[in-house]
Amino acid sequence: MLRIGVMVSGGGTNLQAIIDSIADGTITNTEIAVVVSNNKKAYALERAKQAGIEAVCISPKDYEDREQFNQALTDFIDSRSLDLIVLAGCLVVLPETLIKKYTNKIINIHPSLIPAFCGKGYYGLKVHEEVLKRGVKLTGATCHFVDAGTDTGPIIFQKSVEVLENDTPETLQRRVMEQAEWMILPKAIDEIANDRIEVVNGYVKGKLHAAQ
Ligand code: GRF
Repeated sequence: MLRIGVMVSGGGTNLQAIIDSIADGTITNTEIAVVVSNNKKAYALERAKQAGIEAVCISPKDYEDREQFNQALTDFIDSRSLDLIVLAGCLVVLPETLIKKYTNKIINIHPSLIPAFCGKGYYGLKVHEEVLKRGVKLTGATCHFVDAGTDTGPIIFQKSVEVLENDTPETLQRRVMEQAEWMILPKAIDEIANDRIEVVNGYVKGKLHAAQ
């Protein structure tokens, strides 16, 4: 059973997609051990509680400096014996030491087709504003492992979504979530839980299983 911790900052619709996918069997062999938010007011915490999942807020605001926050976050994550950390709309920059410690054990969902519209400053609505500004006709989402860079880790899944003529950043964000994020993030967790993928030389490959 894969024990996952889900890190969130906002509404938690990606968290909800994971909860629902475990409930309906789209994700197997997986349990959500804890949900961690940096934001006390995140509705994602409420979603976790409603699903009977431990929900914790660890906010930089409650610590004297970044170092103390990083330590507290790392200690907490370590204490839960997690097999996988899922960043589901998590806006916190994770401590480098944590990323190293959990190499290929942290995944993220990004609302564009990486390497387009990614890197520093590209998060949330900003991504979709830029997509519309550039007149791009096709966008989407990417689920990837997290490395020390911003949105640079090995790509697990991508799914494209059409940009429509009358889109606003909000309508486009919604369509990218519905048609891509809520599908590929649960799918990636299921692949990992069932040991179907591995990272080889920085790239995600399907594992070859001997025929039964
Ligand atoms: C999603 O668009 C995600 O890709 C981005 O922030 C949004 C989070 O939404 N990083 P939610 O909190 O899962 O509803």
